[in-house]
Amino acid sequence: MPIEKPYRHKKIGDRVLAPETQMMGYGYDPGLSEGAVKVPLFQTSTFVFKTAEQGKAFFELAYGLREQGPTEEPGLIYSRINNPDLQILEERLTLWDGAEASLVFSSGMAAIATTMLTFLRPGDVFVHNEPIYGGTEHLVETVLPQFGIEREVFGSFPGAQTLEEAMKKAAARGRVGLIFVETPANPTNDLVDIAACAEVAAKYVGPDGRRPLVVIDNTFLGPLWQQPLQCGADLVIYSLTKYVGGHSDVVAGGCLGSEGLVGQVKGMRGVLGTTLDPHTAWLLLRSLETLKLRMTSAMKNARYVAEFLQDHPKVDKVHYLGFLAEGSPERAIFQRQCKSPGSTFSFEIHGGEAEAFRLLNHLHLVRLAVSLGGTESLIQHPATMTHSDVPEDRLRMIGVTPAMIRLSVGIEHPEDVIADLKQALEAV
Ligand SMILES: Cc1ncc(COP(=O)(O)O)c(C=O)c1O
Repeated sequence: MPIEKPYRHKKIGDRVLAPETQMMGYGYDPGLSEGAVKVPLFQTSTFVFKTAEQGKAFFELAYGLREQGPTEEPGLIYSRINNPDLQILEERLTLWDGAEASLVFSSGMAAIATTMLTFLRPGDVFVHNEPIYGGTEHLVETVLPQFGIEREVFGSFPGAQTLEEAMKKAAARGRVGLIFVETPANPTNDLVDIAACAEVAAKYVGPDGRRPLVVIDNTFLGPLWQQPLQCGADLVIYSLTKYVGGHSDVVAGGCLGSEGLVGQVKGMRGVLGTTLDPHTAWLLLRSLETLKLRMTSAMKNARYVAEFLQDHPKVDKVHYLGFLAEGSPERAIFQRQCKSPGSTFSFEIHGGEAEAFRLLNHLHLVRLAVSLGGTESLIQHPATMTHSDVPEDRLRMIGVTPAMIRLSVGIEHPEDVIADLKQALEAV
């Protein structure tokens, strides 16, 4: 638990400070950096110990060889293990999600892989929803089985098995190590009920007294519009490359949760070396200051753009979370766990790949690039780009059609984005 210091105050009198307020100062003591208002960049690989005894004490704590003293702070050792930019970023990152602790990684994939390798062992079977991001799909389909770690899949598309069915099958095959969920799912925006996952996980306590952990990839809506830990999840994962970074200029990942669980992941991160570098951490501290402004602006713009596309005769379907049918089970999940539809969604153009490509090739403003959550609008074709690793029959099953296009709406003037889409649709 971080020690309570003035720069870690969460209240003024009775007033609990909002996360957007805390993004400018939380976790940083200017007194340790010549009074600099902003966190300096600690571009260093290693740190000088005052004495050999101090070095010994720092290592004992970092390697868990003894308990942390009541007034003791972890000492700085080596930037694969810790660094002030990382530590301050990790403290700030906990605030939106209400997490006890967090860790930052060199990418979202590094966060996912390191977390899975921390909690899964050969012989384990874990359960995940589908669709998921193509890179994660490749990890669980191709890489983890080489280490004896298998999976069972559940989904909300027609013919998919339910979470309960997948859990039963997984438990018959081995220890169920975790339930991994991407919600909303990339690229279809399918939703999974996080609280229901936690309830199901609680029924599967193994002989070691442990139940499967519920791990949520919250990249699409977090941390502003969905807080999975508050719905019963154990760990939250981010590609910080997306909304948190927010300027399409960094690659980073995060893992948030209780001190105990995050502590275990930290041990694995230190060994694998999937730690974030100080410069990117410093850039992310800057990004966090405007996170609410950016996500709010993009969310407002996305509604205009989604409404334009929905009314367009050349568009068959818009998978925007704001359009979920009243009274549908998806809408009930949305209302329970999401605070906004966010600003990334897919739509299906009338036709197939040729029509989709024609639209993509005629855009002037919206950038044809993978990724999402940046200040600029980005557009891509999941079936041949982010999800091209997924076998074709599986793509069809999960609803990723050749006509599907994914759009991440940025913070430009929404009428400009609409004008660009409009002229490109005319060319289709
Ligand atoms: C939902 C989701 N999770 C994880 C990742 C992987 O993140 P990164 O590219 O930062 O490794 C992505 C990347 O697009 C993503 O969309």
